[in-house]
Amino acid sequence: MVTRPTRRSVIVGAGLTVGAGLAGIPCGSAGAPQERQIVAAPRTFKLTGSASVATQGWGYDDAFPPPTLRVTRGEMLRVRLVNRLPEHTSIHWHGIRLPNAMDGVPYLTQPPVEPGAEFVYEFRPPDAGTFWFHPHCNSIAQMGRGLTGVLVVESPDDPPFDADIVCLYRDWHIDESGGFTAFSTDEGAGRAGTMGSLHTVNGASLPVIDVPTGGLIRLRILNLDSARIVTVAMPEQPATVIATDGNPVAPVGFGEWQMGPAMRLDLALRAPEREGATFALVNNFAAEPWPLATFRAAGAARSRPPADLPTLPASPIPRPDLDHAETLEFTFSAASATALDPDDLPPALSDLQSALGTDAPAADLLCRSQRIFWAINKRPWPGQSGGRVPPPLATLTRGRSYVFELINATPHTHPIHLHGHTFLVLESNKRTVTPYYTDTVLIHTKERVKVAFVADNPGDWMLHCHIIEHQDTGMMGYVRVA
Ligand code: C2O
Ligand code: CU
Repeated sequence: MVTRPTRRSVIVGAGLTVGAGLAGIPCGSAGAPQERQIVAAPRTFKLTGSASVATQGWGYDDAFPPPTLRVTRGEMLRVRLVNRLPEHTSIHWHGIRLPNAMDGVPYLTQPPVEPGAEFVYEFRPPDAGTFWFHPHCNSIAQMGRGLTGVLVVESPDDPPFDADIVCLYRDWHIDESGGFTAFSTDEGAGRAGTMGSLHTVNGASLPVIDVPTGGLIRLRILNLDSARIVTVAMPEQPATVIATDGNPVAPVGFGEWQMGPAMRLDLALRAPEREGATFALVNNFAAEPWPLATFRAAGAARSRPPADLPTLPASPIPRPDLDHAETLEFTFSAASATALDPDDLPPALSDLQSALGTDAPAADLLCRSQRIFWAINKRPWPGQSGGRVPPPLATLTRGRSYVFELINATPHTHPIHLHGHTFLVLESNKRTVTPYYTDTVLIHTKERVKVAFVADNPGDWMLHCHIIEHQDTGMMGYVRVA
C-alpha cells in the first residue's frame, strides 16, 4: 500500500529503499533513465494470518509486497534483474506494450536468466495505468512462493488525488506453521485451479488501510492470485470505475466487478467525512461475501471542497479497423491425447508415446503423467517443455487489424491474456459488452468472445490462460507478428 500526499514524494520515496530488493539508484542527469535493481531471492515473509508466522518464500523484496514500482509514461524504465534464486527466472511486464525482447518469456523472447546472472530490462511504457510483473517460467512455484510485484505507470496528465492506494489481492498456499502446501494438484490443474488458503491484501489477512478523511482516493485493485477469480465489491461505499486492466474507461458507477487472475480495477471514491469511519472491500462470492480489507478514514478532514470525480485521459492505443480485419478462431479446450502433435511435446513424452503406441488410453495416461490437461486449437504447450518452442498458433501481418474469436469449450472460466498488445473486447455470445480495452479477458463456459487489435508490435507474443496451472499444463501458445 502506498498513500501519498503528493506524487513527487512517492516517486522519490520509491527510490529510497536502497538495500532492499527494489532499489532505485537516483540518477543526476535529467533525461537519462534511472536504473532500478530487482533482486529475486529467497526471502522470509511475515504474512499476517490467523497466526503470524514466518514463511520461507521467494520475493523481489524482503517484505511482501515489494514496493510499488512507479514510473512515468513515455520515460525510459531500466530495471536490472539480479537472480539469486536456485533456478532460472525472468520478468514479464504484464499488460505493457513493449518491444518483444523486453517481454520476459524465457526461450521465446530472451534466454533464461540463470542463477547468479542478471538481465537489464529497458523500455518506455506507452500507457499510464495499473500494471504488474511476474516471472514467466516455473510460474506455479515461482509466483506461488511470492514473485509478484505492482508496476504503476503515471502520467503528467493524471488528475490529482489525495491518496493513491494499491490493493494487491492474492492467496497463499501455506499451513498454520507458515510452510507451503502443494501449489498445484492434478485435481486443481485439471479443473478451476488449486486454491490457496490464506487470503491477503498487500500481504496481510484482513488489513485495515487508512485513507485521508474526506479525501479523493484512487484505489488500484489487482487480482494477482494464480487461480482464484474474485468479485470485488464495497457494499457501504459509493465509488466510480475509472480504469479496468490499466485502461481508462468512461466513468461508471461501481457495483461489483469480477476479476480473474491478472486483472486490475481502478476506482475513484470520496473517503468518509468522519474520522474513524470505515468501509469494507469484499469478495462477493456465493451467499456469504468474504471480507478482504477494511478502509478507515484517518487524519483531519480535508477542507478542500469536493471536486467532481475525475476522468482519466485515454491511452494512445491504436484503434482496430474492423471493416478490414481478419478473423481468427482460438478454441480453449481440454487436451485430447489423440490430437497431440509430437512436435509440441516434451521429448520424454514423445519417446514414451512412440514406445507405447498412440492408442488413446495409453496416451491419456501419458497426458496425465506429463500434466497436460489443456490446449489451444487442440495444441497443448505445457510449461515443462523447457527450451522446446512449438510453431506459432498463427502468424499475423504487422500493421493489420485482427479479430480473435476466443472460444471456451471447457466447463471452467479462463482469463485469457495476450502479450504485447492491448485489445478491444467487442462482443460475446453470452452477455452484453460495452467495448473496452484490456490485456486479459474472462471467458466463461461456452462463451465466445470477439476481441480486436492492431498487430503493430513485431515479435512472438504469448497467448495463454492466466490461471497459472492451466497455462502450465497446456493452455498456452503464441502468435507471431511479422
Ligand atoms: Cu501475466 Cu504471460 O502473463
Ligand atoms: Cu484457464
